[in-house]
Amino acid sequence: MRILVVGATGTIGRAVVAALSAGNEILSASLRKTSIKVDIADPSSIRLMYRSLGKLDAVVCAAGQAKFAPLAQLSDADFRFCLDNKLMGQVNLVRCGFEHVEDGGSFTLTTGILAQTPMPGSAAISLVNAGLEGFVRAAALEAPRNIRVNAVSPPWVTETLQALKMDVSQGLPAAVVARAYVRSVTGTDTGLTLQPSP
Ligand SMILES: NC(=O)c1ccc[n+]([C@@H]2O[C@H](COP(=O)([O-])OP(=O)(O)OC[C@H]3O[C@@H](n4cnc5c(N)ncnc54)[C@H](OP(=O)(O)O)[C@@H]3O)[C@@H](O)[C@H]2O)c1
Repeated sequence: MRILVVGATGTIGRAVVAALSAGNEILSASLRKTSIKVDIADPSSIRLMYRSLGKLDAVVCAAGQAKFAPLAQLSDADFRFCLDNKLMGQVNLVRCGFEHVEDGGSFTLTTGILAQTPMPGSAAISLVNAGLEGFVRAAALEAPRNIRVNAVSPPWVTETLQALKMDVSQGLPAAVVARAYVRSVTGTDTGLTLQPSP
């Protein structure tokens, strides 16, 4: 398969690339650090990237930023940023990507545990994550040519908790999280949000 991984240089993206590399052609894309560059917050950047790549069998997005801060401190601009980046960035990867994906191909987006298990400070992140989960359920119904649309909802990733010097006991290693992306790309699921488990 020809698989585009957006966010390929990130903690989760690197593990997804490693997990999917055997037997597949991986096209790694990210904001700055790969030769294929894309800013998912900019629809014209997404369209330009797709036009340069040719046909794909699968698109995985392990990118998408949103701001963690107390609700009272989240500004209009903060909400706009989260909606444009993690939410519409991934929605637009699907909308603009259908015509570039082969029959029976797939899209796999990234939400996160804060959709279903919020915490103080997660209002904007929980909003976009939950929105994405609704989007994949609905988009899967209208996807043409048997194209599948799923999301993966990672829990806290061990490597991220380590980097933040937080308790790693609730974390799952990125390599384990990546298995849910492999299931989405290689399986038959559609319209689902997959929860990685040990
Ligand atoms: N890590 C966790 O514990 C965790 C848990 C639940 C959900 N998630 C979600 O999983 C996703 C990935 O998390 P991560 O921890 O792997 O992130 P990360 O390590 O910070 O990596 C982010 C990746 O996204 C790319 N990127 C950033 N902004 C972009 C943009 N506007 N357009 C295109 N690519 C962009 C980066 O590219 P460059 O390297 O080129 O800058 C990098 O490849 C995020 O949506 C996050 O909310 C993460």
